[in-house]
Amino acid sequence: MMVQVISSVNEACVAKFHHRTAIVIDVLRATSTIATALSSGASSVIPAETVMDAKALQRPGDLLGGERFCRKISGFDYGNSPAEYAADAVKGRRVILTTTNGTRAIHKSTRAEHVLAASLLNAEACAKLALELRRDIVIMCAGSHDEFAIEDGLCAGMLLHHMRCLNGGAGIETDDFGVAMESLYAERRHRIEELLMNSASGKRLLKLGQKQDIEFCARTNTIREVPYLSGDQLVLRS
Ligand code: MLT
Repeated sequence: MMVQVISSVNEACVAKFHHRTAIVIDVLRATSTIATALSSGASSVIPAETVMDAKALQRPGDLLGGERFCRKISGFDYGNSPAEYAADAVKGRRVILTTTNGTRAIHKSTRAEHVLAASLLNAEACAKLALELRRDIVIMCAGSHDEFAIEDGLCAGMLLHHMRCLNGGAGIETDDFGVAMESLYAERRHRIEELLMNSASGKRLLKLGQKQDIEFCARTNTIREVPYLSGDQLVLRS
């Protein structure tokens, strides 16, 4: 099975997704928030590209969430902090989410046969489901403002690590960027929170007083389910 790793949304083109399973990563914070909302009992998360699209998609009872410049959007119910999406806030509700990079990356991947959302919180479950789907895989690091974000690369390396472990070390091929991200993960796997705190996205969040979000997103394999794109909605699959 071939696992290609794309370093940012900028590099994604439709041809890369055909007949493949796409795994979209935005560790800080969109895919961590999506996994948290669904595991807290939200009925689905609908990724919207723009604020206007999000508002247009809203039906009675739906929650609006997301950020621009890392801050909650005016008039929305929630921002992009995963801790906001606890069970008492989202249980049984549809969440319409728009973020600067993460939800855009999901939209870019919709030509894939299957689309999954990965974060450090659910990386092992995501690797397992991707293998079960039996397609070549393209891992898309959402990045930030069209540039590579190291925390997404770390998660790509973690996914590859789990795929190899689950496959008994055999049958997984990757490209040069994938090899580099696996080495990054092998080197930093015991200092993940430190890496996130020192990343460009982490520093931006620290400046805004969102340290607790970085700590939250640095947890590994606390969620055993995977956000899976079904039509225009992400729903849970285990
Ligand atoms: C994004 O989608 O750009 C991010 O999740 C930004 C953020 O940290 O809220």
